Amino acid sequence: MSYGADPTVIEKPAATPSRVSVPSLAAFKARGEKLAMMTAYDFTFASLLDRVGMDLLLVGDSLGMVLQGDSSTMAVTVEQMAYHTKAASRGSKRALVISDMPALSYATLERALQTSQTLLAAGAQMLKLEGAGPMIEIAAQLSARDVAICAHLGLTPQSLHKLGGFKVQARENAAAEQLLADALALEQAGVSLLVLECVPSAVANAVTSKLRIPTIGIGAGPGCDGQVLVLHDALGLGTHRRPKFVKNFAESLNPEQALRNYVLEVKSGAFPGAEHQY
Ligand code: KIV
Repeated sequence: MSYGADPTVIEKPAATPSRVSVPSLAAFKARGEKLAMMTAYDFTFASLLDRVGMDLLLVGDSLGMVLQGDSSTMAVTVEQMAYHTKAASRGSKRALVISDMPALSYATLERALQTSQTLLAAGAQMLKLEGAGPMIEIAAQLSARDVAICAHLGLTPQSLHKLGGFKVQARENAAAEQLLADALALEQAGVSLLVLECVPSAVANAVTSKLRIPTIGIGAGPGCDGQVLVLHDALGLGTHRRPKFVKNFAESLNPEQALRNYVLEVKSGAFPGAEHQY
């Protein structure tokens, strides 16, 4: 409660935007409102992303690459995911927090239940798993126990070695048809959201039109029900080669130049100035 210029008038507190919930996701799709999703790995960025209206925060196992400097997501552990999930979830007031289950941490139902318990306790509201095949049954079993699940098809980074690299998937008709069948089976299993990574736009459009649940694209064209990018890619941070689907949204802000200026000003003595001293 705050007081305006006239102390007799009590201003209403600003309306708190309602939380994005799992059941509300289908309504976004039904009314044609695109879902904005980005990765978040810590409290400060999660708070910032939440403040600017991000609907979905993904504590992605991409942290193995952008935070740890590894060349894949393969070595990320459940404990590391829990650590970052705890930090990021504290920053979210409105956005739905989704955590990746790391590679092979859901290979059996028993492991999937343990991983789910750890990540839900850390603050995740939905858990993401990659692939189809035996994962359809895992998704069904978790969903039957009321764990909200996001699936991930197309380029699944946890299958990097089997796929032979970070390559566009489902280019051939048979693979596109298999992807559609997998997407429908995952929806049938109770999955609430589907990430489509690096597939031709036409394939993503076909899947999106056939599913009731929203699709979130990354390198899957504009026809998906939402989009996701890795935070560091969207801010143009890092020196790694960026895939074609990445857009640097911070080009005019140039965080690299900002940090270069810091070094220059420390070296020249321009920082700290009089206003930064006690
Ligand atoms: O780990 C991650 O950041 C992801 C996104 C690329 C979708 O899975």
